[in-house]
Amino acid sequence: THQWRGIIEEYRDRLPVTADTPVVTLLEGGTPLVPAQLLSERTGCDVYLKVEGANPTGSFKDRGMTMAITKAKEAGAQAVICASTGNTSASAAAYAVRAGMVCAVLVPQGKIALGKMGQALVHGSRILQVDGNFDDCLTLARGLSENYPVALVNSVNPSRIEGQKTAAFEIVDALGDAPDVHVLPVGNAGNITAYWKGYTEYAADGVSTRNPRMWGFQASGSAPIVLGAPVKSPQTIATAIRIGNPASWKQAELARDASGGFIDSVTDRQILSAYRLLASREGVFVEPASAASVAGLLKAAEEGKVDPGQRIVCTVTGNGLKDPDWAVAGAPQPVVVPIDAEAAAKQLGLV
Ligand code: F0G
Repeated sequence: THQWRGIIEEYRDRLPVTADTPVVTLLEGGTPLVPAQLLSERTGCDVYLKVEGANPTGSFKDRGMTMAITKAKEAGAQAVICASTGNTSASAAAYAVRAGMVCAVLVPQGKIALGKMGQALVHGSRILQVDGNFDDCLTLARGLSENYPVALVNSVNPSRIEGQKTAAFEIVDALGDAPDVHVLPVGNAGNITAYWKGYTEYAADGVSTRNPRMWGFQASGSAPIVLGAPVKSPQTIATAIRIGNPASWKQAELARDASGGFIDSVTDRQILSAYRLLASREGVFVEPASAASVAGLLKAAEEGKVDPGQRIVCTVTGNGLKDPDWAVAGAPQPVVVPIDAEAAAKQLGLV
């Protein structure tokens, strides 16, 4: 068969599963590594986009969720719970359906994108909007999982990191070696932790010859790692990474320091500018948080931190359809025309 089999089957020997593990999958992974024309031109580098919005529920979370739900099922769990800024809940909801489990989600009230809320709803999860931010939701979810029969599927669950590390494997498999630099948006810091684990495992086993420098970017209103202290009331239009006290803070710093990389911040303005550039110049529609990686690369290039001739991969973490408000906002309303070819041609500037 030529069909991609999902990350557990494709990387079975590198994941904590046995022949008896009941694999719960939507055939996630195998996402495109798209050469970025304009970004390559602007930086003098070979820049690629790892398009994680092409996963079954539209974000990289599916890689972690196939593992987390599979291991929960193996352990006999009947219900799972997560805190989320939207994508984790969308993914948990879908994989819980596949597993025949109940899914409970805690989201910050009024602060998740409509598409993500729609996913959690349509997959039949039990949603609570918490009068607080993501960090409050995670504290609540942790407490519930400790005191009630429900398994936590946030990235503090090590199975999530195991699943998500496969994105690094795919990149090395596609390029023949690790890139010089890997750029990621950082929120709860699970993904940068997972990529680093994947890269270092491949290097340790000689599949690749080196590790990339890891560059992470937080939104400037939600940049605790950059500031060196938790942010009580995190703000950013990139709601996916509106997080003030990341659970994998220490691991992210370890990835940064061991790789010789850095973690910096980008403003909402820089995020939206990269978001529009990706859509209008590269043909890749991502959600705002995803554009933080590209905004960060452009910022680093302007600051002279990008040596030409390098191979650079930017992960774009989620699909633009999740949060289409930003695509519509500020754009001119399309003109209305009668059913008339001449009028249409005129409006299109064809005559
Ligand atoms: N990009 C998107 C689209 C995300 O949804 C997230 C995290 C990140 C980047 C940051 O990844 O947390 O591993 O550093 N979303 C989580 C959620 C918090 O609940 O969906 P991270």
